[in-house]
Formats: sequence, structure tokens, C-alpha cells
Amino acid sequence: MTISTLTLTRPDDWHLHLRDGEALEAVVGHSARQFARAIIMPNLKPPVTTTAQALAYRERILAALDKSGDGQSFTPLMTLYLTDNTAAEEIARARESGAVYAVKLYPAGATTNSDAGVTDLLGRCGKVLETMEKLGMPLLTHGEATDPAIDVFDREKVFIDRVMIPLRRAFPGLKVVFEHITTADAAQYVRDAEGPIAATITPQHLLYNRNALFQGGVRPHWYCLPVLKRETHRQALVEVATSGNPRFFLGTDSAPHARGLKEHACGCAGCFTGLHAMELYAKAFDDAGRLDALEGFASFHGPDFYGLPRNTGKLTLVREPFRIPDELPFGLQTIVPLAGGETLPWRVSI
Ligand code: DOR
Ligand code: ZN
Repeated sequence: MTISTLTLTRPDDWHLHLRDGEALEAVVGHSARQFARAIIMPNLKPPVTTTAQALAYRERILAALDKSGDGQSFTPLMTLYLTDNTAAEEIARARESGAVYAVKLYPAGATTNSDAGVTDLLGRCGKVLETMEKLGMPLLTHGEATDPAIDVFDREKVFIDRVMIPLRRAFPGLKVVFEHITTADAAQYVRDAEGPIAATITPQHLLYNRNALFQGGVRPHWYCLPVLKRETHRQALVEVATSGNPRFFLGTDSAPHARGLKEHACGCAGCFTGLHAMELYAKAFDDAGRLDALEGFASFHGPDFYGLPRNTGKLTLVREPFRIPDELPFGLQTIVPLAGGETLPWRVSI
């Protein structure tokens, strides 16, 4: 029998870009309608590198939520942006604040606003990593090697060998989230490695392979980093996401950029899925015949890894066509949701 309604424990988004200012006001309500909590990425301009900045950003998010009318139901979980110069004391302050839940590693130059990122993780950040390990503060990694000589499709695999394995050998007790994994190599590594490791997976990497970038012409709204990979990798991601393994959980990496900056000679990386993330995930799990595994992935494995309580609210999806809007307001500009204009088989019931 085909299921027509799916009620889940309210999910969380363990990897979200909310931006700031008008952009923040435009997108925050969309995430709040679906998710109870989200890990908020710190790659603003300038990046959120201190606890004081994280707390101030948190206030701006809450104010934007109030304006959007979705205020009560959403808790932003803040992160710090790791730099070569982050002090160990900053980690202790972050922990004491009770509002900062993780530290994000952007290898310098890997992606949007990563210029202030880390140039030499073990060489420069040893004391910080030691403190994080001691305090149980998770490190969230953008897992791509940055050497420009490495093929863009190989950067995640090379990161495992050059950064992830040495990092975890040096700090075996450090909680690590391998963010937005895109390859069979990363899926396998996270599945089989020892110690406290997990991975987030985006809806676009479960639904599309790299052909989507070029179907009928260059399609910038499918461009994100790490870039979509070949079909065998997509299948490996679906396999682990739907396996029930608690090391894999939901992180949309929804990364809004104004339409004009995506449809550009040098278009920005990032797919905007904040509007319809749960609809996209539902399609991916349904296509795999594993709707039964969606709740674990979306609502249980994340809080369990972070050591936070599971949510008590619910979210219901119904099997009804949902036409993704072509574009949405984004301050004075517009934004194109991933797969805008297409129709999905599930929608969140409000
Ligand atoms: O596609 C991406 N967009 N990947 C990232 O790592 C950053 C993000 C953004 O901030 O736009
Ligand atoms: Zn991201």
C-alpha cells in the first residue's frame, strides 16, 4: 500500500546558511516552518570568529524570526569560524555561553567566504583542537582539499587522506562532523571509521548527480560546493542516508545567493533549499523505497550525536504535488529555489 501521510518527530537542520540583514529576513521563516533547530554556519562577511559575534548574530536571527512571524518554534544553534589565530580560550568561552554548539573548519580558499579559513590545521590549531576534544565541542569540516592542482571532483577524497585521517589520529576523542558529504569515499570512511564521527548529507546530493549541472545547458542553480558528483557516488549517499546508521543525518547546506549572483559569469556556489528541504528529502527517501528511514535521519541521529534532546513536536508530510516556485523575494532581489518550477510528490502540511 502506498503511504499518503507521513508524520515525523519535528526535524532539525544540522547545516544551514542564514546570511544576515535583508537576506536573513527573507529566508529564516522558511527554515523555521520545517525545522525546530538548525546549526548556523558562521561564514558571514566578516566571519563569526568570536563568541561575542556569535551571540550578536544569534540576536539578529531571533529578531528576523520575530519579524517573519515564525519566532517561537525555531532555535538557532550557533557556531564559530575557525581561523589560524583562534585562541583556545575562545573555545572555552563558546562552551560557557551555552549558545555555541560547534566550530566550523573552512580550509582557506575552499568555498564562499573561506579566505579567513585555516591554512594548516594541525600546525596552527593544535591547542584549539585539544581544548575542543576535552570540552566535547564538535568540529564541523568542509571536507575538500584546497590545492588548486587537485581536480575539483577529487577534492573530498584527497581531504580524507591529507586532513581527516591525520586529524583524527592526532585527536581520537574529538567529535567530528564531515559536512555535506558527496562521495562514496566519504560515505565509506564515515561508516567504517572508529571514534566519534558523523556526516551530514544535503538533499541535492541525494537527488542529483553532476549531469544535472549541464542538462540542456549550464544550470547555475545546481552548482554548490562540494560540487555534485557522478551517479555511483549519489547512490552510495542514498545507501548510507537510508540505512538507519546513526552516523548520517540531515544538513541541508541551504546557501542562498541572489538570482543575479547565481546567473553570472562567475556564479556563486550554493543551492537554496530552505524553502522545501523536507519535500526534497521525502522524495529522495521515497525514491529509494525507504520513507521509514526518514525520521531517524531527519529527527533522531543529529540530536543524538550532538548530545541534545530529540524534539517533541511533529511535522507531517502529505503525498500531494508541490510545485516549487520559480523564484521568491530576497530583499530587493529574488532567489531561485533548487529545482524551481518542478513539481515534487510530497509537501509539508501546515
Ligand atoms: O555551495 C556552497 N555554498 N558551499 C559552501 O561551502 C558555502 C556555501 C555558501 O556559503 O554559499
Ligand atoms: Zn555550507
